[in-house]
Amino acid sequence: MSEVTDLMNKAPNDLESFWMPFTPNRIFKRDPLLLSASKGACYYTPDGREVVDAAAGLWCVNAGHGRTEIADAVNTILRQSDFIPTFQFCHPLAFAAAAKVLSFTPEEYSQVFFANSGSEAIDTVLKIALAYHYACGEPQRNRFISRSRGYHGINMGGTSLAGIMKNRMQFQSVLPNISHIRDTHDLARNAFSRGQPAHGAEFADDLERQIAIYGAHTIAGVIVEPVAGSTGVLIPPQGYLERLREICDHHGLLLIFDEVITGWGRLGTPFANQYFDVKPDLFTLAKGLTNGTIPMGAVVAREGIYEACLDWAERTGEMIEFYHGGTYAAHPVASAALCATLDIYRNERLFDRVRDDLAPLLEEKLHSLADAPHVIDIRNLGFIGAVELAPREGAPGKRGIEASRLCFERGAMVRFTGDTLAFSPPFIAEEEHLDRIVTAVRGALEALA
Ligand SMILES: Cc1ncc(COP(=O)(O)O)c(C=O)c1O
Repeated sequence: MSEVTDLMNKAPNDLESFWMPFTPNRIFKRDPLLLSASKGACYYTPDGREVVDAAAGLWCVNAGHGRTEIADAVNTILRQSDFIPTFQFCHPLAFAAAAKVLSFTPEEYSQVFFANSGSEAIDTVLKIALAYHYACGEPQRNRFISRSRGYHGINMGGTSLAGIMKNRMQFQSVLPNISHIRDTHDLARNAFSRGQPAHGAEFADDLERQIAIYGAHTIAGVIVEPVAGSTGVLIPPQGYLERLREICDHHGLLLIFDEVITGWGRLGTPFANQYFDVKPDLFTLAKGLTNGTIPMGAVVAREGIYEACLDWAERTGEMIEFYHGGTYAAHPVASAALCATLDIYRNERLFDRVRDDLAPLLEEKLHSLADAPHVIDIRNLGFIGAVELAPREGAPGKRGIEASRLCFERGAMVRFTGDTLAFSPPFIAEEEHLDRIVTAVRGALEALA
């Protein structure tokens, strides 16, 4: 057994050295939840217990765990070349990877810019939007509008966009010129909706208020998650995204979708923009782009954005059209993982499976929990679902974490965000896996005080 396998398979002696991200470290380290292997729709603990993965890892392992096609592609390329820069030189696989992404998008999209995570894709998309306006002679368009309860990763741009108060409160030096429109959560009118809620298209009109305050000529773009994931799965009301697009068109603002979780099939189409038939000017991707195997992010741009930057450079004699990029952008190994992943999605028609089989099944199974204790809402769209729990008095979020831990004891890895349990299993899950998840959740809720 290699040393890494040995280290992976036993409980660590030292839990203190690793400062865990977005985790209650004190609670975790008192009673760690360790996973050491994964296959198909399940994880395995170091002592061999099987746990159904209700989250596709972190919304990323869409094609299921242990895909040997991806491992083989990564292995092959790593042995052929460990690293090739994509500044000034490049490798053929980077171009193949970009073309493969575009083979899934609507035809109005024509360029892919690679980054190394969803967070990097977000900061990249902000810079592309600014560079575009600069190229078009409108550098004063430097304000972004995002949404309350929005999550856009952890870099400075994404932190500034964040509409989650706790994700901002420790950091004072976030970017200026960002304001927020209201979120779309409306339990009073929409609780227990199946699919898109009926009420709330008018929440998009909040954008008009921001435009009235700051002036459209100062605004670079509006960025939203088509379905907000990290803030508890907020599904856009019918007509809401269409209305945002109309307002952006009316005022000449770029509309940006953060498709880091909705990208790659979650709604039964490659991207949410196809599901809703609302086309943003730019959208971000990560996670499912490589099935979670190798860090990678991307920004997809509609035709005209890249060209505007090229024209600007041509006119002004600039050598480089966009002063931005990371050492590992389109790394050969990530590009290989991307190509193998997208081939699996296409060859196995996994997005059709989501649309035809998994989405209706998840809806039926999750809504069967409506009579379980503490449940105040159940919502779903595509292969995404949420069960919202009544918060404990004076301790919001506590019931969520307790429920998640009890689910784990009962054989399901269910993520919580606040008091909402979120569901986004891999697309190879079978009905049996969904049953095990729902049974674990019911048991956990019945056990909770
Ligand atoms: C909508 C959204 N945007 C951005 C990110 C950040 O991606 P990453 O964690 O890969 O940096 C996430 C991560 O969960 C996300 O859900």
